[in-house]
Amino acid sequence: PHVLVLHGPNLNLLGSREPGHYGLATLDDINRVLVSRGEAVNAQVETFQNNHEGALIDRIHQAAHDQVDFIVINPAGYTHTSIALRDALAATAIPFVEVHLSNIYAREPFRHHSYFSDLAVGVVSGLGAHGYELALEYALRHLPNRTS
Ligand code: DQA
Repeated sequence: PHVLVLHGPNLNLLGSREPGHYGLATLDDINRVLVSRGEAVNAQVETFQNNHEGALIDRIHQAAHDQVDFIVINPAGYTHTSIALRDALAATAIPFVEVHLSNIYAREPFRHHSYFSDLAVGVVSGLGAHGYELALEYALRHLPNRTS
């Protein structure tokens, strides 16, 4: 299986960014765990972070071309704003889990709405970096085994 993990804007700052909300793990720490988990079960796990909406959209289009089986995405601030990013996921129809480090429902009202949740297979919010691992486990367990 081939899983793409997408990280939206400002997540490159993890480790130093508002640790009370987002924890002390860096993005590299998080990605390393996910990639090695994939290696352990012969799955290809790719990660991509970008601060620009269009770059994330282009990466989703490429994922369809690359026959990615599953996406784990933390759209970060775009969660609450981006119809275009939502449309990219809808267009490719690649199943995805939406992940948030913080519990968006325990924060400001403008974070309570997500443009992604109704399309997502599921949502993990508030479990910190562990949320990404849980989303990846779901993907690995629910995908057929392929050799490529
Ligand atoms: C976030 C929550 C969003 O509201 C925020 O804009 C982020 C990160 C999270 O992982 O908790 O940048 O997606």
